[in-house]
Order: sequence, then structure tokens, then C-alpha cells
Amino acid sequence: MTVHFIGAGPGAADLITLRGRDLIAACPVCLYAGSLVPEALLQHCPDGARIVNTASMSLDEIIAEIKSADDAGQDVARLHSGDLSVWSAMGEQLRRMRALNIAYDVTPGVPAFAAAAAALGAELTLPGVAQSLILTRTSGRASSMPDGETLENFGKTGATLAIHLSVHVLEDVIARLTPHYGADCPVAIVWRATWPDQRVVKATLETLEDATEGERGRTALILVGRAIGAEDFDESCLYAGDYDRRYRPVGTDPRFPEGTE
Ligand SMILES: C[S@@+](CC[C@H](N)C(=O)[O-])C[C@H]1O[C@@H](n2cnc3c(N)ncnc32)[C@H](O)[C@@H]1O
Repeated sequence: MTVHFIGAGPGAADLITLRGRDLIAACPVCLYAGSLVPEALLQHCPDGARIVNTASMSLDEIIAEIKSADDAGQDVARLHSGDLSVWSAMGEQLRRMRALNIAYDVTPGVPAFAAAAAALGAELTLPGVAQSLILTRTSGRASSMPDGETLENFGKTGATLAIHLSVHVLEDVIARLTPHYGADCPVAIVWRATWPDQRVVKATLETLEDATEGERGRTALILVGRAIGAEDFDESCLYAGDYDRRYRPVGTDPRFPEGTE
């Protein structure tokens, strides 16, 4: 028996990996985090599967479900939104799996920041503008931020920020980042990326508050940085015609002559 932790993607039901879909289809038990996982994915469950929405359950209750599947020798598909490597509460479940000696594996998914960038048609790491992306959040009722992981500290880097779980404190985010990025810094908010009711607002730190027309609810990602919508950036050397590289040797004395490893 194995518990398959599966990244369900950002919302659109066809943004799950083939592996994730096939695992759902092979498992007689499916536990899904119903707040953000699209119900359409449950159509992949086999007939007669036990399907449990864990949105209202405690960790102990979720583990009890898994334990009972384990006792019955039944594989479990465990679905969380986006990818499991960030804000999925997978870590605490895996720790319980190890304590109970229950086998598990992990299948990645499309994270929300990637879906939001796709909605914007934006590369978040543009040469000469930003080469780092910081995935972060602000403190919430359930999770405080460790010392040092502040918007101000991240803002000092000038990196592109993908700020999760924070649209409800947008005014605070704007106030804390403006001294570091400047009032004219491009920003975007993508609500429910890839869902049918996706909404995108592009603005600057100065104009963002008005541009949202007061919308603070729903699931949203805030993207901040000079790379958002930039047109003035360098082309990458990788594809420059005169850039000598292993896969495209250039000139009379290439660094990696053809045929060398
Ligand atoms: C609990 S975290 C889950 C993150 C998820 N594990 C991931 O890989 O993106 C939930 C937060 O992710 C962001 N998020 C998740 N899905 C989203 C979507 N479809 N569109 C915009 N933001 C989303 C929002 O900031 C939301 O508050």
C-alpha cells in the first residue's frame, strides 16, 4: 500500500501531470483538499472509489483515513492544489507516514506562481532585470513568518516576488514594498489563475489599490518586480549567434569542438 501525494495544479482540470491523473485512476481511495482542488479531477477516480474532501478535517482525522486505507491494503491518492513543495501541509503528513511506517511517494504539480505568470504571458527572470524569483507570503492566523523573512528584506534584493496568501492585506504589502521597488514598479494580481473566473489586474505599486476596485477576496497571487511586463531587457547569450557553446560551436577555435563531451 502506498499513499501517492499528487500536485493537482492551479485549477484547470487538464493542468495535472499524466502521472498524477493515472495514479488517481489507480487508487481506490482519494483524499482531496477541496478548497482549491477542482472537483473535475475526481472524474479520474475509479468507479466505487472512496472520495473524501479533507477541507474540514483535522490532521488527525486525515491520518485516520489513510491508516484505515492502509489497514485494508488500499492505495491512496492524496491531492493538494498546485505543487506540493510549497504551502501544501504535505510535510506534516509525510512525517506521520514515516512514524506509521506507511509508504508514500510524491508527484509534482503546476504551482500557482507558474499559472499566474502564464496568465500574464510573463517571464519572471529577464536578463539584466531580475534573475531571482522569491516565493513568499505574509504572516497569517495559522502561520507566522520566521525572523528575517520580511517583505522589506526580500524587497532589498530587487528580485521578482510572488506573494501568496496576502491579497487581503494588499495595502500593507504595497506600503512595505514601495520604498524598495519604487512607486512605478510594475505589479500584477492574478485571481484564480486557470479557473474559468480568472481575473488579471496589471498596474504599478502606486496604482494597484485603485486598479483592484476593492477586490480582496478569492484566491490570488501578487507578482511584484521590474520583470513584470518589461520590454527593456537584454537577450540571453545562450541564443546569441556568436555565443560559443557545447551545442552550437562557433568560430575556428570553439571551446567545445564537435564530437567532444
Ligand atoms: C495554500 S497556498 C497553496 C499553494 C500551492 N501549493 C502552489 O503550489 O501554488 C494557497 C495560495 O496559493 C495561491 N494560489 C493557489 N492557487 C492559485 C490560483 N489558481 N491563482 C492564483 N493564486 C493561487 C494563492 O496565493 C493562495 O492563497
